[in-house]
Amino acid sequence: MRHPLVMGNWKLNGSVKMTNELIAALRNEVSSINGCEVAIAPPVMYLDIAKRALGGSRIALGAQNVDTNLSGAFTGEISATMLKDVGAQYIIIGHSERRTYHSESDAAIAEKFALLKTAGLIPVLCIGETEAENEAGKTEEVCARQIDAVLKTQGAAAFNGAVIAYEPVWAIGTGKSATPAQAQAVHKFIRNHIAKQDAAVAEQLIIQYGGSVNDKNAAELFAQPDIDGALVGGASLKADAFSAIVKAAAAAKNG
Ligand code: PGA
Repeated sequence: MRHPLVMGNWKLNGSVKMTNELIAALRNEVSSINGCEVAIAPPVMYLDIAKRALGGSRIALGAQNVDTNLSGAFTGEISATMLKDVGAQYIIIGHSERRTYHSESDAAIAEKFALLKTAGLIPVLCIGETEAENEAGKTEEVCARQIDAVLKTQGAAAFNGAVIAYEPVWAIGTGKSATPAQAQAVHKFIRNHIAKQDAAVAEQLIIQYGGSVNDKNAAELFAQPDIDGALVGGASLKADAFSAIVKAAAAAKNG
């Protein structure tokens, strides 16, 4: 039985004060909700402060990116071993904002996936099509290509204990979420795509939806059989909205 995962992606937002205050509020609201994993990914600057603020809570720590190198002359980068060292567990890779603004390739993202697995961290692999690709009927082709970069280099077993976040680019930060039926169709395609290689791995795989998830639309999305929680941007910056999304995931998946 898969547990849903609701993860907050704070993106380039926050401060010491905000990190402490938001985590204090989340701890309060989320601690009594069972049956749903919860994680937050603050900017890497604030990971250590977040770790201290989270001490003893059930909220896991995550990060928004990782480098393809483990150490050495790579100015400005952060490695998988460093993330592990400060207590991060869930690491977002391949977010569309990084694919777009930092020209990250499928191959580089697959390298990050492998490094995270070796370090004992959980990759949260973001995939999804742009609006133009969606309109051209290329959603499945794009998602398959982005998954295949990992499948073909590391095999289906690499997805054991990993997470995929399906985030249609046109839905991110736009207020225009995919409909539950639209998202479910793609999630089912993703699970089937992996099942063709290994049915057991596909069955346990957490496939989150991301893109304008909020406290209003979460329950309907989570009612879909292949939607296992969400990667939440904007709404993860508000304790009440994020907690409501966690509650909706726990309720949908545990009756
Ligand atoms: P959003 O972002 O919830 O603000 O649309 C989601 C994401 O980019 O992970």
